[in-house]
Amino acid sequence: MTLLHVDNLRVTFPTRQGPAEVVRGVSFALGRERLGIVGESGSGKSQTGRAILGLTPPPGRATADRLSFDGIDLCRATPRQWRQLRGARISMVMQDPKFSLNPVMTIGRQLIEAARAPRAEAHDRAMAMLDAVQIRDPARVFAAYPHELSGGMGQRAMIAMMLMAEPDLLIADEPTSALDVTVQIEVLRILDRLVEDRGMGLIFISHDLRLVGSFCDRVLVMYAGRVVEELAAADLAQARHPYTQGLLNCLPRIEGGRRPLPTLQREAGWAL
Ligand SMILES: Nc1ncnc2c1ncn2[C@@H]1O[C@H](COP(=O)(O)OP(=O)(O)O)[C@@H](O)[C@H]1O
Ligand SMILES: [Mg+2]
Repeated sequence: MTLLHVDNLRVTFPTRQGPAEVVRGVSFALGRERLGIVGESGSGKSQTGRAILGLTPPPGRATADRLSFDGIDLCRATPRQWRQLRGARISMVMQDPKFSLNPVMTIGRQLIEAARAPRAEAHDRAMAMLDAVQIRDPARVFAAYPHELSGGMGQRAMIAMMLMAEPDLLIADEPTSALDVTVQIEVLRILDRLVEDRGMGLIFISHDLRLVGSFCDRVLVMYAGRVVEELAAADLAQARHPYTQGLLNCLPRIEGGRRPLPTLQREAGWAL
């Protein structure tokens, strides 16, 4: 079953040189699966994710021929419909937790408000979620305000908060990049369980093609605001687009020693 349709999504920001289109006609459909979006920094991944949630920062503007979630036309959603969707049925883990956590509310209160459950149950689940993202002292973090947490800790609290609502669709924007490897794996395991057990749809945004390839079912490769290649994660080694091949080759290999990374050669034609 298709959960999300994205058809010809465009995001534009006004600049002194005229409008800059940073997402340029992105289309895809998502079922209850793990879809990865990869690409270098600035390729339009975050703006794609935000546009789906109607969170394009002004004065930017998003348009699409079709943007629909579970039969709801997001292009025409009313503020009331958005309130029922955001943070409840569709959640997004933003790249920078500073902008997503409410600075004047304790983590615990934000977790409880994110849950759609009776208070006592929500409290127990909040503690369990903090524990699941490997926060060692859940009680302290529960009582803390966002500014009292480190970046990595804030990221984990964010992930716990997104999971509290048990959304149907989760957009996770570089959710693990601030975390150390063991916590990364734990977070991926939690996301995996939500997809497998609850049939959640997941859009996993990352610049790390190998991580995405090993974790997702399908991968969209973005370059300069466009999807230049879409393929099953299992077929990554057969990627045809030179940009995708470049992303694969540019990653450092552990056994590779200290050789400098190869530079990604670009062709003007990719961006056309
Ligand atoms: N608020 C903004 N105003 C103007 N340009 C922006 C804004 N946010 C992002 N951009 C531009 O949009 C492009 C895509 O950004 P983004 O989606 O954040 O890339 P990614 O997540 O792939 O690194 C970048 O060139 C960035 O500079
Ligand atoms: Mg980004």
